[in-house]
Amino acid sequence: MRLGILTGGGDCPGTNGVIRALVRRVSERHGTPVTGFLDAWDGVIEGRAIALEAEDVRGILPRGGTILGTRRGSPFDHPDGPVLVRQALDSQGLDALVVVGGNGSLTVASMLADDHGLPVVGVPKTIDNDIEGTDECFGFDTALQIATDAIDRLHTTAESHDRIMVIEVMGRDAGWIALHAGIAGSATAILVPEVAFDIARVAELVARRHARGRYASVVVVAEGATPVEGTMSVPDRPVDRHGHRVYRGLAAAVAAELSARTGYEARVTLLGHVQRGGTPTAHDRVLATRLGLAAADLAEGGGAGRMVSVRGADIGSEPMSVTRGRTRTIDLGLLDGVTAALLG
Ligand code: F6P
Repeated sequence: MRLGILTGGGDCPGTNGVIRALVRRVSERHGTPVTGFLDAWDGVIEGRAIALEAEDVRGILPRGGTILGTRRGSPFDHPDGPVLVRQALDSQGLDALVVVGGNGSLTVASMLADDHGLPVVGVPKTIDNDIEGTDECFGFDTALQIATDAIDRLHTTAESHDRIMVIEVMGRDAGWIALHAGIAGSATAILVPEVAFDIARVAELVARRHARGRYASVVVVAEGATPVEGTMSVPDRPVDRHGHRVYRGLAAAVAAELSARTGYEARVTLLGHVQRGGTPTAHDRVLATRLGLAAADLAEGGGAGRMVSVRGADIGSEPMSVTRGRTRTIDLGLLDGVTAALLG
């Protein structure tokens, strides 16, 4: 059994844990190395790969990022992409390719498997936690902890100055990090992409809180949150060379509005890629390990077109096609519940 693996899309803490578990399982069962393609699909198309033996993955479980490198981009950017992928698998003598990626990479992997008959399986990966077909993604817990730690730290400085702190976290299409870090960090308001926010209402909440003598408000803003149309302007959201929309700076606009509407000083924290960097939490190391082992089993068992997934306490598998053009959004009931009972 010869397997290949690549890591695509944004890097994510825990990715090395998936690689390590998969390489070890293949090595233990078959005594064969795993082909690791470098820099995602670029390595497949350009024939850049390394052989991964058990000793090559020693010590990588706590390491952030991905030892294989990652890129955005897709083989479908190339006119002969699927043919080149097939040639790469043949020339490496591979029985299957494991794609560790987010919504974009899994959509590509699903197209290669279902529309072009290639033996490709997937492992869902994103700190955004927004992949359809799985209850959870590794990396989310790490990002959530980082965001919660940041909010905790903002409380004390905000209290000292009686300021509004607006913190922007990742989450382009779904507000998982914002909602969960907002609850864990006891935020005043949580703005998510799933529900257009009314800035007047947020300002009212903040003003009411300060009038009650509660100093310091922390407002958590998911980068992809959107105001009710016509209520305030949002910064440009340009598209990069891979067609990937770049979200940055909504928090600054929200802070300026809140300050103007309440009279309180506001400061901005843009957490950015700190959320994706560094060592994974214990939870993400365990989850990544379980998914890596399961991915080796799925690839061996002829699971082309499927991805490993979390269902409750179990690891199973789902057709990768469930991810195509879909986003797993937050529990709006939870947002409503905490907004009514706990925030403000
Ligand atoms: O991969 C998910 C994500 O972390 C998003 O939340 C964020 O918008 C994006 O990646 C940032 O991507 P890049 O690393 O290309 O700036």
